[in-house]
Amino acid sequence: MGHGIAQVAAQAGYQVVAREVGDERIQKGMGRIEKQLARAVEKGRLEQSAADEIRGRITTTTGFDGFEDCDLVIEAITENLDRKLELWRELDGLVKDEAVFATNTSSLSVIDQAAATKRPNQFVGLHFFNPAQVMPLLEVVQTVTTDDDTFKTAWQFGESLKKTLVHARDKTGFIVNRLLVPYMLDAVRAYEEGVGSIEEIDIAMKAGANHPMGPLTLLDFVGLDTTKSIADIMFDEYRERRFAAPPTLRKMVSAGWYGRKSGRGFYDYSGDAPVAVELGL
Ligand SMILES: NC(=O)c1ccc[n+]([C@@H]2O[C@H](COP(=O)([O-])OP(=O)(O)OC[C@H]3O[C@@H](n4cnc5c(N)ncnc54)[C@H](O)[C@@H]3O)[C@@H](O)[C@H]2O)c1
Repeated sequence: MGHGIAQVAAQAGYQVVAREVGDERIQKGMGRIEKQLARAVEKGRLEQSAADEIRGRITTTTGFDGFEDCDLVIEAITENLDRKLELWRELDGLVKDEAVFATNTSSLSVIDQAAATKRPNQFVGLHFFNPAQVMPLLEVVQTVTTDDDTFKTAWQFGESLKKTLVHARDKTGFIVNRLLVPYMLDAVRAYEEGVGSIEEIDIAMKAGANHPMGPLTLLDFVGLDTTKSIADIMFDEYRERRFAAPPTLRKMVSAGWYGRKSGRGFYDYSGDAPVAVELGL
């Protein structure tokens, strides 16, 4: 998600500092941005000079160089509260006091992160969708401590990215994941129960409900590891079966089958076209 958010901000004219935990990951993220920009140039949607300018607005670091003067910091790290809190505590001490902090979390409470900083009033959720370069929606999440100026700043930032904005309250999953995650988990349960094969489930929802992508393809796209973390957090919050990660999802994550990003999930992505991998349940 991080590279997508960095790209849309740079496209809107912002100077961006992108942080990752290692050089290899920085290269991977920047490689994705460069590929996306090259494709836009190839398709005639962007001039080469504009693509170069966008790329030129993004600097990278594995430390915190350049963070001191940022007006807005958006975290899009692993969906894990302890890791996010550790990062916010570090950032709180070094980023200027006026800066707004935003989390791209899909399922954690914004308040739990805001309260760990000295600026809970300047803290919001900015929940982008995957891929951030393509998906129009941005949920702007106001928590109990977010002041009006901060919410306005976040909203105006979203408008400057030309996103479709919705004002969401700080309830686990916000609007979209509250509805979408149980649906994706149910697709895994339907598969476990033998209702249909991987391909049949995906074909059925595309042709029967007019969805652009079937639920199991979507899971591979979102990331099975990320989805499992989201499901665990939502189940912990609501204690309802519909949010519980099914055994198949757990096993696939244990096996390292995270979906597109690892080359294998419900589909195998090593060839030219994805091939469904029946799990022999
Ligand atoms: N995957 C989605 O469809 C999606 C959609 C919307 C929001 N989100 C949210 O965005 C966040 C990231 O999701 P993802 O799917 O990209 O996760 P991911 O686990 O695939 O990637 C997280 C990245 O963060 C990096 N990272 C970890 N700790 C870091 C730190 N301290 N500083 C800098 N980088 C660090 C990791 O190296 C990794 O590359 C999560 O909070 C997730 O809930 C995900």
